[in-house]
Amino acid sequence: MSSTYTSSAVEQTSVALDTERIRRDFPILSRTMRGKPFVYLDNSATSLKPQSVIDTEVSYYTEMSSNIHRGVYEFSERASMLYDEARERAARFIHAPQDSHVIFTRGTTEAINTVAYGWGLKHLGPGDEVVVSEIEHHANFVPWQTICERTGATLKFIPADPANGRLRLDSLETLITAKTRLVAITAMSNVTGFMPPLDRILSRAKEVGAVTLVDGAQLVSHQPVDVAALGADFLAFSGHKMLGPTGVGVLWGRAEVLEDMDPFLLGGDMIVKVRKERTTFKDLPERFEAGTPNIAGVIGFAAAIDYLESVGMEAIHRHEQKLLAHAMERAAEFDDLTVYGPADVSVRGGVFSFNLGDVHPHDTGAILDQEGIAVRTGFHCAQPLMQVFGVPGTTRASFYLYNTVAEVDRLFEGIERVRNVFG
Ligand SMILES: Cc1ncc(COP(=O)(O)O)c(C=O)c1O
Repeated sequence: MSSTYTSSAVEQTSVALDTERIRRDFPILSRTMRGKPFVYLDNSATSLKPQSVIDTEVSYYTEMSSNIHRGVYEFSERASMLYDEARERAARFIHAPQDSHVIFTRGTTEAINTVAYGWGLKHLGPGDEVVVSEIEHHANFVPWQTICERTGATLKFIPADPANGRLRLDSLETLITAKTRLVAITAMSNVTGFMPPLDRILSRAKEVGAVTLVDGAQLVSHQPVDVAALGADFLAFSGHKMLGPTGVGVLWGRAEVLEDMDPFLLGGDMIVKVRKERTTFKDLPERFEAGTPNIAGVIGFAAAIDYLESVGMEAIHRHEQKLLAHAMERAAEFDDLTVYGPADVSVRGGVFSFNLGDVHPHDTGAILDQEGIAVRTGFHCAQPLMQVFGVPGTTRASFYLYNTVAEVDRLFEGIERVRNVFG
């Protein structure tokens, strides 16, 4: 369960989600795909958007289209106010004490690159070590590999268990040592939904004085998160995975680490004074937000946060666990279905990755598509984990607040069909 990351202030309700009502808020859910009712099970890739988010984004363009923090006219002031309010809402959502520590980025990828280039290039050198895990998304892998190559630092890996995708922590003390300068770890695998025991990994990192970054792309969208309880120095996440528009994400950081980082993007809106000899930069957060941001997207993201808060993150998490448990039960009916990740659903989010016999995942995905079911197939931007599992890819169904048990059953009808075609 998520108790490590949640605060007592977070809503704790035992009421089941009213999915019928929720589904009416998502216009795309009333469409058909391939002539069949549309079943969207690709939420780990991106989420659907409720009408309120779509309307909010459109209203920026129709009612106040302008740049922010520059114009002295009414529309620019209104857009600036909504943009600044969005930052407050994002900070409140993760219980960050100060909204100036929330930096808007294009997404998790840009947030992690901001730290890799801004902190890594400045602080890493030969003899230093960076630790990531084998279950990371490429977004939390490739930047560290590249920065280590450029600085002469060494990249090390917390190994994953091929049997269940859990991390093997038995060698944590020899892996994270006085040489470790940074530990970057996912809070939830986008392939298996496995949630590593962050408390153990982060406390070991703290013991040796390493800076810590948590990739929250899959966690923040699905569970309550409290940055103080989490205890990391940096947290990165994406708005589009949590009902918001694409092109918006967040880098949250503790003041000390943010202030100890160089800006990665340089240009307008992040400077105080520019002279031929030298430029001085603004304070947080503007220092890390060069250029015109995704204004409509950020304002739409605030509407997404409002929507999620109105439903309750704890209730969303429980709903997804119910769907996952149902999927695991149904999977047990198939002796030729390999399911990746721990059997214990309490250490997982609502992600269900599988392979049926030796059917290629793309063939499985193509047949599910014919049934109106959208899933993801392939290596899921996690090739190192695919190597651990010894497969080129998997088929992944991932759940969110609008999915239903009936849709999970449709997935299994689809899997039956795959078996009939290829069996
Ligand atoms: C765990 C994880 N980290 C990082 C990312 C990258 O997110 P984005 O593409 O929004 O930058 C993803 C996207 O799927 C993810 O699942």
